[in-house]
Amino acid sequence: MNAWLRQLTWRIPEDLSSPADVARYELNRALPGVSISLNQDDNLGDGYSVQRVSSGWQISGGKNGLLYGAYALILKALSGEAVPDDFASAPYYPLRMINCWDNMDGTIERGYSGRSLFFENGCFDYDPARMRELARLLASCGLNVLCINNVNVHEPAQRLLEDLLPEAAALAAIFRPFGIRLMFSVDFSRPLKHGVPTADPFDPAVRAWWRDTAARVYSAIPDLAGFLVKADSEGRPGPFSYGRNHADGANMLAEAVKPFGGWIVWRCFVYNCRQDWRDTKTDRPKAAWEHYAFLDGQFSDNVILQVKYGPFDFQVREPLSPLLLGMNHTNLAMELQLAQEYTGHQIDLFTMIPMWRELFSDLPANRIMSLAAVSNLGRDDNYTGHPLAAVNLYTYGLLAWDPSVDAEKAVTEWARLTYGFAAADEKKLTGLLLSSRRIYEKYTAPLGLCWMVNPHDHYGPNPSGYEYDLWGTYHKADRNAVGIDRTSAGTGYLDQYPPEFRQKYEDPETCPDLYLLFFHRLPYSFRMKDGRTMIQRIYDDHFEGYAETQSLAETLSALPFPEPDRAVILRRAEMQLHDAKEWCDIVNTFFHRLSGVEDAHGRTIYP
Ligand code: GCU
Repeated sequence: MNAWLRQLTWRIPEDLSSPADVARYELNRALPGVSISLNQDDNLGDGYSVQRVSSGWQISGGKNGLLYGAYALILKALSGEAVPDDFASAPYYPLRMINCWDNMDGTIERGYSGRSLFFENGCFDYDPARMRELARLLASCGLNVLCINNVNVHEPAQRLLEDLLPEAAALAAIFRPFGIRLMFSVDFSRPLKHGVPTADPFDPAVRAWWRDTAARVYSAIPDLAGFLVKADSEGRPGPFSYGRNHADGANMLAEAVKPFGGWIVWRCFVYNCRQDWRDTKTDRPKAAWEHYAFLDGQFSDNVILQVKYGPFDFQVREPLSPLLLGMNHTNLAMELQLAQEYTGHQIDLFTMIPMWRELFSDLPANRIMSLAAVSNLGRDDNYTGHPLAAVNLYTYGLLAWDPSVDAEKAVTEWARLTYGFAAADEKKLTGLLLSSRRIYEKYTAPLGLCWMVNPHDHYGPNPSGYEYDLWGTYHKADRNAVGIDRTSAGTGYLDQYPPEFRQKYEDPETCPDLYLLFFHRLPYSFRMKDGRTMIQRIYDDHFEGYAETQSLAETLSALPFPEPDRAVILRRAEMQLHDAKEWCDIVNTFFHRLSGVEDAHGRTIYP
């Protein structure tokens, strides 16, 4: 089942060798009998223009642009809408990346859609026809870089650069005609395994090892997008071991791939993951800025710093990372997470584009030069585990192509292509998808607090689960108050922001409600803008979130989903309802026990 492309029922033959070949083939099958001419114009790059001509259609585009133009025409035709006579488009970001966290043992870190797409038992293991189907799926929504292995590089994935390279090259060849370039996550310490006594980026032998490695890798895969690096983060090796900073480390690798046009995508998820909860000086959200801001301007021009959208870790609601607002002289990518690690494991419904739109409304134009997202894909038949989670992949593609894309329009387009419901049902489905993030937020951690999930697997409620842990993620709820003061009077995190952001968040009286407890420590009696006390708002949100989940489940069961989607959707809706009740009751009881404050409406809060 090919998600939103389920109308493309034909298999793609293996002998198509260029984007133009794929474009021609797909057009012939999707629009039989319609004459289409392709006109390659390399000035258009990934962009295209499509015109109706007397004999049919003409598509102009760069090498890959022809394919994007073809899919745009096919999708418009299949959506049942009138196809305009003339349309054109070009992507905003040159690199539109998907980061798969697939391990070579066949598991996926934070994967909720089955086994790895590419690996099993330490080996490559895939059906090439299925890979072409996946490539079609990614290209049809404009994505063009696929990192195939986990950023935590576990054995034997290091060998992708070594004896597994020919097999990696064979996979790259499958994706190439779809305009998709592979990328590999690499292990910074790898030279140590090859007789080099150090991985110090300043050591000439280390530099030579990486240069030789890059030359070998690029001779097998000349269009490899580059290397993705998680260094000095959660136990991964990195330049800190040698007293070097991250510009030293990244630039050394950049020098190695530069002759081949490669990128080093260097992740900024660096923080102290062995914090003592008694330590009140360290505040984890400050970490990325402290490690990188002073290095602005020192990175090579083929390095991209990949920064998670918020300063913590893919929580339901975080303010935009201050690093994305600083660093004016460095290439930056924003990292999103399609995998629903903290957002319901692809059991609970959570459509992300409303959240992305909020992030982009805070991000000045031209701040970032590319976009990356952790994949939500796996070997499940429907690719995303929950059939409705595919909306996040599709709309991510649209966002990376055009960051000003309208959320409602994008979700409607996905729903129309995927299910083709009658207007009233389509409206119900898109309404429900668009409200799903807010519903999830209501029944989970309140008002920007974050981190009330079960430690490690990150599903289900556990309000104190992270309180006495090593990860630097504390809310410190006591009988009077909850939250961390991150203003200048507190940890000073807010000082990392430009003035307009400081102004927006620093006064609890004016700070937007949904960020209140991210930035402030406040008593339960604090008056919200609408006059309710904060504790009452917490109770209300949780009861509302659960009630809205009940109606969400009812709406889903009334919609005419085809099988096998229907069975999966209804089963997961049942699980979501069960979990929303757990969340609602546990979080309300947690705060009630601490505060002793009764619900103003006398609803059941368990003792
Ligand atoms: C989170 C996630 C890890 C992952 C890490 C990362 O902490 O839980 O599994 O490795 O992010 O982004 O590197």
